[in-house]
Amino acid sequence: MSNVEQTLSIIKPDAVERNLTEEIKIIFKKNNLQIKNHKKIHITKEEAAEFYKIHQSKPFYNDLCNYLSSGPIVVIILEGEDAVLKNRKIMGATDPNNAAENTIRKLYGISIDKNSVHGSDSLENAKKEIGFFFNN
Ligand code: CMP
Repeated sequence: MSNVEQTLSIIKPDAVERNLTEEIKIIFKKNNLQIKNHKKIHITKEEAAEFYKIHQSKPFYNDLCNYLSSGPIVVIILEGEDAVLKNRKIMGATDPNNAAENTIRKLYGISIDKNSVHGSDSLENAKKEIGFFFNN
């Protein structure tokens, strides 16, 4: 049975700044994740704080919000078979040092903060995160 899902990807400031957007989009497409919508935006710290509010009790929350609002990001709706889990596999572990070979974070991530991409961690959060950036 097919299980077509949508998930949200964010190409973070470190990757946008290094002109990695197209390379990362190619990785999604090669893995049969279609780009249904995308836009380059620069969000405020307040918007970042709202987006990441699930992490508000974490010690890294303030730095995280400063970072996501520090420069342009590209937000992408990905669609495909098991898109949520597939995108997480393609991204690799949060810390690039622990990420598997050939994952986006292993290839391009600089540190646990500058880890190049964000991806929704569940279908429920994917719906919320897509709704946050796209009015659909
Ligand atoms: P992301 O998948 O965007 O979700 C939250 C982000 O917090 C995560 O990627 C990391 O970039 C960042 N972060 C910073 N420190 C930590 C940490 N100790 N554990 C998890 N995430 C962290």
